[in-house]
Amino acid sequence: MAVREIVRMGDPRLQRQAQPVTEFATAALSELIADLQDTMQAQGGVGIAAPQIGVDLQVVIFGLTRSERYPEAESVPFTVLINPQLTQLGEEEVLGWEGCLSVPGLRGEVPRWTQLRYQGFDQFGAPIDRTVSGFHARVVQHECDHLWGVLYPQRIRDLQRFGFTEVLFPTLPD
Ligand code: NI
Repeated sequence: MAVREIVRMGDPRLQRQAQPVTEFATAALSELIADLQDTMQAQGGVGIAAPQIGVDLQVVIFGLTRSERYPEAESVPFTVLINPQLTQLGEEEVLGWEGCLSVPGLRGEVPRWTQLRYQGFDQFGAPIDRTVSGFHARVVQHECDHLWGVLYPQRIRDLQRFGFTEVLFPTLPD
């Protein structure tokens, strides 16, 4: 278990389509998840994806009970999600502010699907199939975007709604 260095925007490792996990319940996978957890916790993040620590696999973790980075957000159960598939439910989109550990010090307003079904597996290969909305749906879309090589600034429609956290939200941490 270790806090790993976070890959930042501009690095080609954040721009590739991650590889699916083919073996579950392995020591290597447990170690990866422990490293992701340690790194996320050290940074106070609400989610992190394997490519953000330079690992080319379709693994994300997310969850929060109370976040200093997102004080208004409702809680999201801690989840390990592997080889995810996302399906939009309904047509509705919602704008919300996001940050990213790979884009430190900045926030942007990003449109996301309001309602979402996500499917995938946990680290033991047990299937996950959930229908969610609100901040939970936003976090899943943000984290899974990392697996397709997409960072949230690429999804901002109005670049006037993109800036430094300390300017936009002086009371929040980076
Ligand atoms: Ni991110």
